[in-house]
Amino acid sequence: MKEINVAVTGGAGQIAYSLLPRLVSGETFGSDTKVNLRLIEIPQVVDKLQGTIMELIDCGFEQTGKLIATSDIKEGVKDADWVLLVGSIPRGIVIDGKKIEERSDLLKINGGIFTDQGAAIGELAKSDAKVLVVGNPANTNALIGMNKANNSSQQWFAMTALDANRAKAQLAEKAGVEISSLKNMVIWGNHSPTMYPDPYNATIDGQSAAEVINDSRWLEDDYLPLVQQRGKAVIDARGASSAASAANAAIDTVKSVINPTEEGDCFSAAVVSDGSYGVPEGLIFGFPLQTTQEGKIEIIQGIELNDFAKAKIKITTEELESERQAVADLIS
Ligand SMILES: NC(=O)c1ccc[n+]([C@@H]2O[C@H](COP(=O)([O-])OP(=O)(O)OC[C@H]3O[C@@H](n4cnc5c(N)ncnc54)[C@H](O)[C@@H]3O)[C@@H](O)[C@H]2O)c1
Repeated sequence: MKEINVAVTGGAGQIAYSLLPRLVSGETFGSDTKVNLRLIEIPQVVDKLQGTIMELIDCGFEQTGKLIATSDIKEGVKDADWVLLVGSIPRGIVIDGKKIEERSDLLKINGGIFTDQGAAIGELAKSDAKVLVVGNPANTNALIGMNKANNSSQQWFAMTALDANRAKAQLAEKAGVEISSLKNMVIWGNHSPTMYPDPYNATIDGQSAAEVINDSRWLEDDYLPLVQQRGKAVIDARGASSAASAANAAIDTVKSVINPTEEGDCFSAAVVSDGSYGVPEGLIFGFPLQTTQEGKIEIIQGIELNDFAKAKIKITTEELESERQAVADLIS
């Protein structure tokens, strides 16, 4: 059996609870791959991970390798092939008597976490390590981590696959088709309510989803807010943020990165912009991606954007630019 090392921060959180068994079951990395898992938590919580480890052992998967719990990021990411950065400080937490509500405060607090984690990954994870940031604000956390890692042979992603799955599900429901009919779902920009889920380039059985649905009022006035605000709707209904679907999207992203993308399809994740589609270089931006047969991740070029799409992409780009400004001192 092959053997890989996977590190997960936020190992005792609710996303991790759904994510971890699927990482070590053979489902994600293949039945021929043993997964050594390093669970990383803050010192106050790290002991709880012993319970998680017991449960993972009790699952009895033959692909489960060594299981380690640590609060030392360096120990956790050493020689890692994959690092899933799930842990972060949520909005609304009280720190030093102050409730953290402002996005700029949240950016700074999480920025502090992602500087140390990024530096450790750049120094100690494998030279071809892949890093997926799930913890919010995901794009800008990834921007900070990637800059601090300063290791161009590693590859950083921020997760937008949950948005893509939500975006597909709503189109499938509206069109009355199976979800498997939906392909090429692009989430442009930030994993935030400014994201642009693109119904014009998504396809239903090979035809533009927008053409199949043929209701531009619904697409532009109802569909977009439905997808953009879906995370909030789940929180309002469940009293907690999406966890099983977020874990599922993380698994989807890993699978999309390690397996070649089918012809006529793409996957969504945010990666560092090389200037494609006029997006400022260096931003971590949601693009249409493909994995080639050789395992290279590429931004798919040549996708047509109508004026509506361009206006929406401008908004999300501006938001990411302002987030970059807010953490300028952390990435210089
Ligand atoms: N990108 C997406 O689509 C998406 C979707 C859903 C949730 N999220 C985000 O994922 C994150 C995790 O969500 P959750 O529901 O599991 O939260 P949670 O609060 O249940 O768990 C987070 C865990 O992270 C840990 N943690 C905090 N700082 C850490 C650090 N420096 N190192 C290691 N661990 C640390 C906490 O102790 C906690 O156990 C949140 O930021 C949430 O907003 C992203």
